[in-house]
Amino acid sequence: MNVNGKAYRTIWTDEADRLLVINQHLLPHRFETAELPAFESVCAAIRDMLVRGAGLIGATAGYGMWLAAREAPTASNDAFDAFFSAAAATLKETRPTASNLAWAVERQLAAVAHGGSPEEKRRIARRTAQVIADEDAEACRRIGTHGKTLLERVAARKHGDPVNILTHCNAGWLAFVDYGSALSPVYAAHDAGIPVHVWVDETRPRNQGAGLTAWELSRHGVPHTLIADNAGGHLMQHGMVDIVITGADRVTRQGDAANKIGTYLKALAAHDNGIPFYVALPSSTFDFSLNDGMREIPIEERGAQEVRIMTGKATDGRVLDVQICPDETPARNWAFDVTPHRLITGLISERGVCPATEAGIVALYPEAENRA
Ligand code: MRU
Repeated sequence: MNVNGKAYRTIWTDEADRLLVINQHLLPHRFETAELPAFESVCAAIRDMLVRGAGLIGATAGYGMWLAAREAPTASNDAFDAFFSAAAATLKETRPTASNLAWAVERQLAAVAHGGSPEEKRRIARRTAQVIADEDAEACRRIGTHGKTLLERVAARKHGDPVNILTHCNAGWLAFVDYGSALSPVYAAHDAGIPVHVWVDETRPRNQGAGLTAWELSRHGVPHTLIADNAGGHLMQHGMVDIVITGADRVTRQGDAANKIGTYLKALAAHDNGIPFYVALPSSTFDFSLNDGMREIPIEERGAQEVRIMTGKATDGRVLDVQICPDETPARNWAFDVTPHRLITGLISERGVCPATEAGIVALYPEAENRA
C-alpha cells in the first residue's frame, strides 16, 4: 500500500538483504521503518508487538527462521538442525493465539529438512520466507476480490448511499504483508467506486483501531469514523451498520473464530439486530486440528500495564503515556476472545466465501476433513 506516495509492504528485504519492517509502535503519530538484524530481534519484535496481526506475525516468523538459519552453525547437518529446531521452539512461544506463527515455523522446518547441507538449508529458508510473504499478500488480495462481491450486493440495495461497514481492531494491510483481510474488501470496493464508510472501533486496550485502522484508511482516502468500543450495538440498533467484517487470529474446523478481545460482543449485537457478520482470513489462519474454539484456542493474556496506561499525543504534540486508573488498581488483559460459529454469517478466504460450519469449510478446504 502507499505511504507518502511510496508503495510499502509491512515486511521486506533490501538490496543488502537486511530485514525491514514498519515500526507499528510509533503509528499513527510517526511513520518509521526498523531493521530486524538478528533472530532475537525478530522474537522481540513479535513479543513486544513492533509487528503484529496474524498474517504479519506469520510472515515475520518465516523471515525469523531464515535469520536463525543464517546464525546456525554449519559444521554439520546435526549441529544446524539442533540450532534450527531450538529457534523454532523459541519463536513459537512469542505469541500463542494466532495460528499463522506456528504455521510459518512448521513450514520452514518442513522445507529446510529437504536441504542436504547447512548451506543449502540456508538457501531454502531464505526462499521459503519470501514465498510465505508473497503468498500472504496474494491471499489477502484475493480476499479483497471475494469480499468486494458481498459489498457490491449490499450497495445495490442502498441506491448510492454508502455501505456502512463496522470493523474491530486492525485487520488491514498493517496486520498482513499487504492488503489486509477485513479491510481488503473495503479497499477493493472503494477502488472500484463503490461508496463505503467504515465505523472503526477504537479497540482497547492497545487501540489498534484508533491508531492503525484509522491511519490506514486515512492514507487510502476511505471515509471512516472512529467510535468508542462500546458504541457498535447502539449503531446497529439504529440501522447505521450494514455489515460487520473482522479479521481472525485462529479459526477452527467448525468455524469458531478467535479475534481481538471485544469481537464476540460485536457478533452478539450483530446477531440480535440481524446484521451480517463476516470473518475474513487467509488459509494460514485456519487451525483444522481444533474444533471447539472456546475450549481449545489458547488465549494470550498480556501485561496489565496495557490496560492501566494509554499512549497518546498531547496538545503540544508530544507523545505521552498516561495512567488512567488509581495507582493501586490491578488490571487483567486478555488479548483475544472467541466468537462461536453460530454467530458468524460467513468466512471470506482467498478461496471464496463459505458458511462458518464444518461442512462449509470442508467444501472449500477438503484438506480440513479428518484433521481432528
Ligand atoms: O494483538 P494483535 O494486534 O496482533 O491482534 C491481531 C489483530 O489485529 C486482530 O485480532 C485482527 O483482527 C486479526 S489479525 C489480522
